[in-house]
Amino acid sequence: KTTVAALKNTASQLDGQTITLSGWVRTVRDSKALGFIELNDGSCFSSIQIVFTEEKLENFKQIAKLSVGSAITVEGTLVLTPGARQPYEVQAECIAIEGDCPPDYPLQKKRHSFEFLRQMAPLRPRTNTFAAVFRVRSLCAYAIHKFFQERGFVYVHTPIITASDCEGAGEMFQVTTMDLNDIPKDGEGNVDYGQDFFGKQANLTVSGQLNVEPFALSMRSVYTFGPTFRAENSNTPRHAAEFWMIEPEIAFADLDDDMALAEDMVKYIINYVLEQAPDEIAFFNQFVDKGLLERLKNVAGSDFGRVSYTEAIELLQKSGRNFQYPVAWGCDLQTEHERYLSEEVFARPVFVTGYPKEIKAFYMRMNEDGKTVAAMDLLVPGIGELIGGSQREEREEVLVSRIEELGMRKEDYTWYINTRRYGGCKHAGYGLGFERMIMYLTGMSNIRDVLPYPRTVGTAEY
Ligand code: 4AD
Ligand code: MG
Repeated sequence: KTTVAALKNTASQLDGQTITLSGWVRTVRDSKALGFIELNDGSCFSSIQIVFTEEKLENFKQIAKLSVGSAITVEGTLVLTPGARQPYEVQAECIAIEGDCPPDYPLQKKRHSFEFLRQMAPLRPRTNTFAAVFRVRSLCAYAIHKFFQERGFVYVHTPIITASDCEGAGEMFQVTTMDLNDIPKDGEGNVDYGQDFFGKQANLTVSGQLNVEPFALSMRSVYTFGPTFRAENSNTPRHAAEFWMIEPEIAFADLDDDMALAEDMVKYIINYVLEQAPDEIAFFNQFVDKGLLERLKNVAGSDFGRVSYTEAIELLQKSGRNFQYPVAWGCDLQTEHERYLSEEVFARPVFVTGYPKEIKAFYMRMNEDGKTVAAMDLLVPGIGELIGGSQREEREEVLVSRIEELGMRKEDYTWYINTRRYGGCKHAGYGLGFERMIMYLTGMSNIRDVLPYPRTVGTAEY
């Protein structure tokens, strides 16, 4: 048995030989004693043409009536067809029906909108676009592991169930062991989940960072790569309630080391995917985002911009733009601001550094000015924030005073604070939003279209 992907390299030597292929029918055409099937076997985008004749097939009539979507196995002769639209085809000796398909199959041969396909997550990988997205997603995950493993980083599996709120935003999904019928309700019938993970409060992790830092302070260069959860009620094309994050953490490193690592990683991923998925990227470039290929090539070959938050605010104020959210020093950057900076001012990815402490998490290292922290966000055209990171506050007294200032429960973070006492050192890290990276690589503009089963506000089907 072979695959359509494998044939790309081997077909030229297989002229006249018998091969076997299994896949799903994209189209069937027939006229009297001759028919054609366009077969896609999932191994790549290309479909292969199957020619079948009444002379060869006992079940000719049945095959001619096959519905789109049916699964079949074909045994036949591979024939090179120079000059034809496709370089080779298969002349069927026999075709077995593995599974037929009713005529109400939703993916009939025509173009469907991404919104329509979103309603059928289990079927959309049968389309060219989604098969390409999920192949790129798989390659991208592999590229990330390859990048870190080649540099000696250790992959640490941080917990999904945790008691801490890394980002301090209170956007956590609670975990409970209660019988659903026993969950207490308030007077208005709202559920009170209370604190119940075997008697303790627990939630799904929003970030693996706090758990991975101690590993950096033991094993130097480490990373997590896993699912994270945010109960933020933002119904946008870039936010999901469940998304994957890659979080490297490096010891004896400062913010500049952190940005250098992030820049190397993004370029490595792009180069790897351009090399390993040229057909997919060409497809996205043609059908989804016309400037994609050129943009990716430029990014891989140019230096990322660097600008301080304070300068960025000045640039935004001088822009003359009528932003929906007005800009002033101290405000958090909104997507419109992030996109203006990366698309119009820098026209490439840009790191913004030194954000006001008020809009960043407690663990970021305080700068000399006492107002800003050693934070960095990487903003990229088309997306906005792709990466968020920082140098960490390694000074125990400064860390504790930040925790107290923010009204967090210090007792909950004793284990974390202790990492600063027991040979703590300068260290830094960042989080890459995996889905945003896939959006960046494919030009897909909605996070729901790069997650196999998106969990966003209001959707948790399948
Ligand atoms: O900026 P964030 O919240 O940073 C952290 O969680 C840090 N603990 C990371 C670290 O320093 N180790 O999230 C990091 C990235 C964002 O830049 C964004 O790409 C992505 O995660 N992200 C989301 N992606 C999809 N849906 C959401 N709701 C996201 N929230 C953040
Ligand atoms: Mg962020």
